Amino acid sequence: MTAPLRSEPTTVQVALGSRSYEIVIGRGLLTTLGARIAALRPGAKVVIVTDDNVARHHLDAAEASLRHAAVAFSRVIVPAGEASKSYRVFEQVCEAVIASRIERGDLVVALGGGVIGDLAGFAAAVVRRGLDYVQVPTTLLAQVDSSVGGKTAIDSAHGKNLVGAFHQPVLVLADTALLDTLPAREFRAGYAELVKYGLLGDSRFFAWLERNWRDVFAGGPAREHAIAESCRAKAAIVARDERETGDRALLNLGHTFGHALEAACGFSDRLLHGEAIAAGMALAFEFSARRQGLVPKSQAARAIRHLAEVGLPTTVRDIAGPPPPLDRLMDLIAQDKKVKRGMLTFILVRDIGAAFVEPGVDAREVRAFLSEKLAEP
Ligand SMILES: NC(=O)c1ccc[n+]([C@@H]2O[C@H](COP(=O)([O-])OP(=O)(O)OC[C@H]3O[C@@H](n4cnc5c(N)ncnc54)[C@H](O)[C@@H]3O)[C@@H](O)[C@H]2O)c1
Ligand SMILES: [Zn+2]
Repeated sequence: MTAPLRSEPTTVQVALGSRSYEIVIGRGLLTTLGARIAALRPGAKVVIVTDDNVARHHLDAAEASLRHAAVAFSRVIVPAGEASKSYRVFEQVCEAVIASRIERGDLVVALGGGVIGDLAGFAAAVVRRGLDYVQVPTTLLAQVDSSVGGKTAIDSAHGKNLVGAFHQPVLVLADTALLDTLPAREFRAGYAELVKYGLLGDSRFFAWLERNWRDVFAGGPAREHAIAESCRAKAAIVARDERETGDRALLNLGHTFGHALEAACGFSDRLLHGEAIAAGMALAFEFSARRQGLVPKSQAARAIRHLAEVGLPTTVRDIAGPPPPLDRLMDLIAQDKKVKRGMLTFILVRDIGAAFVEPGVDAREVRAFLSEKLAEP
């Protein structure tokens, strides 16, 4: 399938009362950024926050759109990569936003992947006690996950995302054509978070992905559909539980095992976040299957087969380099924030599309399971 230059956009509502906003998804939408901002905030100025990779590919187009709509703007460009979610870069971004004479009523625009969304969103949350911001996500992960829901953060020496705020954007503009310049490996990693919505709550969407994933990768209307379905799923969960006191935890399917693997690999190129989550979801399905036979073995195998088919890791063996030691993985799992009174909380599954929060998982059971997994040839 060849992708058209433009398509009719799809709009998904995030229903959060006075903090409600729209996610607009479509091919070629970046050209409408300026007009949308001018309509949303007549006369507002804008500061674009982006990284050097994204700037190279897409900053000119974003700025042209703003200029065309007579929206005044300035820009802050930070180095690409997780290291920019630091106090130092955060300070630079805040100072640059202040220096640009942004006032209440003006807007911050986060043009980039999850790193930029988290960094610029957090700066917007605190500069002048809160500025509005627009998310223009440029990675698949950001379009289906991090740009929606209002979680913003930077990293602490103690761990990732430990300093942050809930701050909802006023608009999310997901131009699916921006993903054409994304490295294939980054796209595939983002796809893991997209499959997650099928696996956790929507077996029909999962079955659709099994049939159509090639078209999602190719970039035609199937890509828009898959992103819109994912945003709908996330928006519904966030609308029910904005601050993660309940249901929102389901979005952590695969994340307890996944975070441990990611941390054991040093948050490096060895294992991208989405890759870790693919392996983590596969482990969550296998763990559920052997635990009082929660999920039928055939369905666990089916979930894992799809992840493997698109080229995502599904076992510890699939990760390059020496496997992480069992003790290290168990330490990392115990440090995870989802631990209460010695019992581990996992997102487990009854079936494809039927995840649930299980707060009473004994660490010994996890240890026995992982030790078997690590021993597999
Ligand atoms: N706030 C949330 O709810 C939430 C949810 C999930 C993840 N996150 C955060 O998101 C971050 C990961 O996001 P990510 O995977 O998007 O990483 P990222 O922002 O680092 O982007 C990945 C790489 O792709 C490059 N890139 C981005 N868009 C591109 C494009 N269109 N063309 C070419 N290159 C492009 C970037 O420069 C970077 O090198 C993590 O920090 C994670 O903590 C936040
Ligand atoms: Zn994730």
